[in-house]
Amino acid sequence: MTNNDTSEMDSNLIRSLSPSVGNFTVSLHYDKRLYKHDIRGSIAHAKMLAKQGIIESPESESICQGLAEIEEEITNGNFNWREDLEDIHMNIENRLLEKIGSVAGKLHTGRSRNDQVSTDMRMFVKDAVDITIKNLTSLQLELIGIAESHTRTVIPGYTHMQRAQPVLLSHHLMAYVEMFERDVERFTQTFQRTDVMPLGSGALAGLPYDMDREYSAHLLGFKNISNNSMDAVSDRDFLLDYMSAASICSMHLSRLSEEIVIWCTDEFSFIELATEYTTGSSLMPQKNNPDFAEIARGKVGRVYGNLMSLLTTLKALPLTYNRDLQEDKESFFDTYDTLNAILVVFKGMVHGMKVDADKTLAAANTGYMLATDFADYLVQKGLPFRESHHIVARLSNYCHSKQKTFSELTIEEYKQFSDKFDTDVYAITVESSIEARDVPGGTASSRVESAIQSALQRIKRSGRY
Ligand code: ARG
Repeated sequence: MTNNDTSEMDSNLIRSLSPSVGNFTVSLHYDKRLYKHDIRGSIAHAKMLAKQGIIESPESESICQGLAEIEEEITNGNFNWREDLEDIHMNIENRLLEKIGSVAGKLHTGRSRNDQVSTDMRMFVKDAVDITIKNLTSLQLELIGIAESHTRTVIPGYTHMQRAQPVLLSHHLMAYVEMFERDVERFTQTFQRTDVMPLGSGALAGLPYDMDREYSAHLLGFKNISNNSMDAVSDRDFLLDYMSAASICSMHLSRLSEEIVIWCTDEFSFIELATEYTTGSSLMPQKNNPDFAEIARGKVGRVYGNLMSLLTTLKALPLTYNRDLQEDKESFFDTYDTLNAILVVFKGMVHGMKVDADKTLAAANTGYMLATDFADYLVQKGLPFRESHHIVARLSNYCHSKQKTFSELTIEEYKQFSDKFDTDVYAITVESSIEARDVPGGTASSRVESAIQSALQRIKRSGRY
């Protein structure tokens, strides 16, 4: 190669910008993480060009060889990054020019950075979805494992943050497994909508070459090719899909975080986290803070913020490519990194969590958590529910004034409220309350056990783990 080759590219594509703009237009520091996808996309494109006779086969081979070497240089940290070349695409193309000379210039035949960058991002998102679904599934399996070992552990179930009815801890945990299953569904749909190749759209209008777009898509593992070149270069919905799925998923994680934080308090003491998932206080020696759960809960803010940021960038943007679109990457990458970091930490955190089953049972045994069961008892004896509800409300007030629990009442006391009460009323316990909820989706132990089995089967059938 000659020096002339390099300077030619420089002067054509890289204008010398006013020094006052600094690195305002530079995206290299964050888009360099697309290098593998960018090179894969370029190799497929070069192969397609040769197959179609748009460039010669030896030219294509030398381009592909050069690109493979560049990938190695980058992976091994031997690549000389140049900010003045702005982005990953120009850095790689320029390096190719240095390596193989002016034939490198043929790679960009029938391609624009507009369809190139969107193709790279779509490839990246497809991989990101795969990793996210793996991490989600592995957290689900962890929760299912805990649920399996707690199919007899009773905890108070809450509404309005007030003790409401006893439930199995496994039932509570399986609720999160369900939420994460819907998250997996959303990410799966994200994958399907992302699996569309923009390459071959050119800058915006399509290309005047005999391209075989299906062939490029096949080489790159895309299921479909885009239908409209203008949409293809300006669409970033697939990123919004990922980021909204991530927002909902991280919202689920924040709810679990919150429960973990609450369960760790002295007031609850339902669980203890492994010491490697808590931190001490620099001032108070007795503290074991659930920082991981708190940070996870806190990080959800930026996941929402990133979604809002990209929605705002895209708002009212006219067709087609506008440089605003370069702003899609940092918010997406941050969401991807943040969500997956939370998922990985969570798996470890819940794995080491110890449940104090005596404490949770004791908490479920206090107050009037079985009130509904007493109302249901009277219904079984023939009273309409509204009437039995009324009777049990009065009974609870009575207990409260006498400082007694239901089980401490004598049968005579019961009968003052309804003659339907009989000695079988003493058979109402926390366990009977739980086992009575024997409907699909209920907390009866057999129902929870089958929910666990079907969740495991669902995961197995999906082949995602
Ligand atoms: N760095 C740019 C981006 O991420 C690449 C595409 C540039 N296209 C252009 N017409 N300047 O969007």
